[in-house]
Parts: sequence; C-alpha cells; structure tokens
Amino acid sequence: MSEEHGIRGGLTNYGDKDFAEYLRSSFARSMGLSKEMLRKPIVGIAETGSGFNNCHRTMPELVEAVSRGVLAAGALPRPFPTTSLGEVFLNPTSMVYRNLMSMDTEEMVRAQPMDAVVLIGGCDKTVPAQLMGAASANIPTVQLVTGPMMTGRHRGERLGACTDCRQFWGKYRAGEVEREEIDVVEGRLATTAGTCAVMGTASTMACIAETLGMSLPGSAAIPAVHSDRLVAAEFSGKTAVDLITNPRLPSEIITEKSVENAFRVLMAVSGSTNAIVHLTAVAGRLGIRIPNARLNQISDETPVLVDLKPVGDGYMEDFFAAGGVGAILREIRHLLHLDTVDVTGQVLGDRLEPEMDWVDRRVIREFEKPVSDQGGLISLKGNIAPDGAIFKRAAATPALFETEGRAIVFEGLQDLAKRVDDPDLDIKAGDIMVLKGAGPIAAGMPEAGYLPIPKKLARAGVKDMVRISDARMSGTAFGTIVLHISPEAGAGGPLAAVRNGDRIRLSVKDKSINLLVPDQQIANRLGEFAPLEGHKRGYRALYERAVLQAPDGCDFDFLTQSGKTRK
Ligand code: FES
Repeated sequence: MSEEHGIRGGLTNYGDKDFAEYLRSSFARSMGLSKEMLRKPIVGIAETGSGFNNCHRTMPELVEAVSRGVLAAGALPRPFPTTSLGEVFLNPTSMVYRNLMSMDTEEMVRAQPMDAVVLIGGCDKTVPAQLMGAASANIPTVQLVTGPMMTGRHRGERLGACTDCRQFWGKYRAGEVEREEIDVVEGRLATTAGTCAVMGTASTMACIAETLGMSLPGSAAIPAVHSDRLVAAEFSGKTAVDLITNPRLPSEIITEKSVENAFRVLMAVSGSTNAIVHLTAVAGRLGIRIPNARLNQISDETPVLVDLKPVGDGYMEDFFAAGGVGAILREIRHLLHLDTVDVTGQVLGDRLEPEMDWVDRRVIREFEKPVSDQGGLISLKGNIAPDGAIFKRAAATPALFETEGRAIVFEGLQDLAKRVDDPDLDIKAGDIMVLKGAGPIAAGMPEAGYLPIPKKLARAGVKDMVRISDARMSGTAFGTIVLHISPEAGAGGPLAAVRNGDRIRLSVKDKSINLLVPDQQIANRLGEFAPLEGHKRGYRALYERAVLQAPDGCDFDFLTQSGKTRK
C-alpha cells in the first residue's frame, strides 16, 4: 500500500509523521494484528447493532460475513460503531437524530484510516443517514441493509409489522377487537429479526439504495434471516475491496440520473412518503435537486407495479420471492436512465439485459397490467403549502380525492392527544382534521400525520377522513393524508393561520390543497405568529437552528453541498 493508505492513512497529528505511524502500528498490534495484516488495505465496516434496535439484531453475523468477504479479497476488515436509530425506541422521534447519525457516519469514515467502507443499516432512518454520510465523505462505499422481517401468524392470518399493527390497533379502537386478542397479536406482529415486513420506509430505502447503485444488485429485498443475506454481506465486503483498486466514489454513483431512477422505483413500488424526504437529503449532499414538478411528472408516468402492504396485499418476503428490485427495474426499463453505474461497476442497462427466468405476477405486475396506472406519491401545492406537501394517493381513499370540508384544528401533538377522543369534540365524517406544530423545527417532524380517527367516529364505522399536517407518516400507514406541508406552522407557514371552522379544499386532480380564506385575512392572522421558544443548549439547539424544511430533505443547512446557512 502507498503511504497514505491502509493503516498509514490520515495519521494523527503529533507534529511527527513517522512517530504517528509508529505509535499507530504499535497500538494496532495490541489488537492482535500481525505486521502482515497491517500492510493490507483497510475496509471499515460501520456496525449499528444496539440493544435499542430490534431491526439490527443480525448485526454480529452480518459483520462477520462482510469481514469474511474483505479478508478473502485481500484486505483487512475493521468494524467500528456508529449511532444506531431504532425507530420505536427514540424520543421524540428518530427523525431528529437522522442528521446526527449522518454526521457521525461521515466524520468517522473520514477520520479513521479506511480505504473503503461497508455501511450496514436497515431501520428507517439508518440507511438515509448512512447514504447522506457516504455522499459527503465520498470514499468508496457499499451500503448493506439488514433486510426485512418474515411474517408472523395469527388465527391463520399472516401478520407483518407494521401495517397490521395499525390495522389491529384501529380495530381495537373501533371496539372490533378485545383487549385479550390485541395482547396476543402484540407477540405475533414482529417475530423475526429484520426491518418492517411491508413496503414501509426501511424497505423503500433498501430499494432506493439498490437503484441508486450503492448496494449490490439484487440485495434489497433478501429477508434478514435468509442465508442469501449473509452471502450478500460477504459479497459486499469483497466489492468494497474491489472499489479500492477500481475506485467509484459515491459522487459518481449518486447522480441526477440515478436519483431520478430511484424516484421512479419509489413510485413503482408505491413506497413510503418518508423516502421523498430522505432521497432529497441524500441528493442534496451532492447538489442534486429534483423539482416538485419533475417528481409529479415521474409519478404520473410510472405505474404502481407492486402489490404489497400498506397499499396492497403482500409482504417483503413475497417481493423477494417474486423477483425483487431487478424485476421492477426491467418492467420500467424504458423509463430509466440506463447509463448509471453501481458499486460493482456494472452499467444499469447491462444489468437488465438478461431477462429474469421467472417473476411472480401476483406480486410484481407487468407494466401493461399495473396495480394502478400512476405512481403512488404526488406533490401538492396551494396557499396552505406554498413550498409543497406530499400525498400518497395509492394509500388514500379515491372517494375523498376531491374534498371540501370544515377544518377541525389541533394546535399541536399534545392538543391532539388531549382532545381527539373527547366525546364532546365537534367533528363529523366529512370534516378535515388539521394538525399544526408537528414540522421539523417545532417537533422534529414525527410520524404523527396519521391522525387517529376520533374514537366516536371510528365506532360509528368511519374508516378514513382527510387529514393534513406538517408532520410525516409512517411508511407502513395508509389513509387520505396530506403530509410535509411546507413551510411548517412552527416556521410561520400559512398552516399556522388555519382556524377551527375554516373551509379547506383538497383536489388530487389539480394537485392542490387550499385554505378557502381571503389572502389578506391569512396575512393578518400570520401577523400574530410568534416564533417558538426552542432548546437553549445541546444537539437539539443545533438541530432547531439548522434544520431545513421538507423540500430540502430536512437536512441541516451546513451539511448540504452549498453549506449555506438557513435564512
Ligand atoms: Fe425498524 Fe420498522 S421499526 S424498520
């Protein structure tokens, strides 16, 4: 290895280079590494196992398999820990810590002596954070995902986290399921290691990582407990070693074209709304921006081809068996940029040249026979969301696509929790529920956009209502829900001006969401807006100072390519 590589890369500053190298070698040997091993190139392995992250339970065997691949290819594997984000274990929401994990990943990759890195993630925010960090650190990187869970069983029915968690909870709230049964179901929803079993955020991001070219072809959907997952891990290690001699940097793989391809796949799999924010943030690290109008064009041109929960019937194990991302890419081949390249050096067009021997058409449809003609996600605009909002039409009720209704406003998360089930709440089925104060600055943008149907309406049989907010929604959720309204109410966006009883109009046909209140009245109301009192110290203070709105991926201003400070 040359002087700057392997264990000699990025020496610690002592003012004496030779001494720094001598000291490092000495300390490295205290880990039981021979001189021969220390002469090899180094592949870092970012491990994110944690007692607070069920989705990463297989981390030790994945690290072992990656290490095996690295060793077999002639390099030295060096696992190192970074932040781990287990979706349901974080307060107030994992989204607050995605940028922290991306900084941790970027800086540890850059600061430690590695020639390439394999990043192992899985749970919702971890893969976006790792891809953001990789894009900024820009050393040869392979993304490996932990893979999805297998389904469980309950009274002959398949169950998968977390769409079925929500379905059962909805039934319980509506009085259709007893406490005893919901307790039994609790132990049957998430029964294996791995990420959520449906096309939620984790699975969507795995498909996106593969489409971008940052993960091995064919690896996104392999179940966490399948032996192929370990084989993919071994190959990821080997690929990282190949990248040292034939460097392809993240900035050469994540390009405007591969980002557009990823948006196409997001539409075709009817993926998570969160993935729009995450992919925007990853692209933003390299100065790539896909405008809302282009997003809508991609959505209108790309049919939903996958019949998976939360919008369809199947689970990720079915998607894997059906053909996975490779089958989707072949169906939409004519819409893709085929000259993008992946971590193996293969050009997308070449990858898709050989036809698949079999595709399960119950799960992955042909382009001509889609699940629905248009992509699952669109961007909305209007006086209430001048910088845009996101709507998952594939998971919504078509009968509510053109709705004008009375606004029932909740001023924040606490207000929602306090009043939503109040029997005296003045609300009826045709109303539009509005949640303010759940945007990136005000609340860290939690997955609170899936406002519960008030108990009294749920018990009366109401299954869906139009709900709008500046929050996000879990990728496993469903309903006629407008999310990511931007600018958020907490930043003085027009959402802050909505008052109880106002009329709001949603038009999916026009891709619009409007507050039917005269402009001057909206301006007058916003004149009364008082900025929020934020945190005074620590990471949360940094977060609130620097976080951008959803159209910028909720990244920190100083982490985007321009590094320009938020106005
Ligand atoms: Fe980790 Fe769903 S909780 S992917």
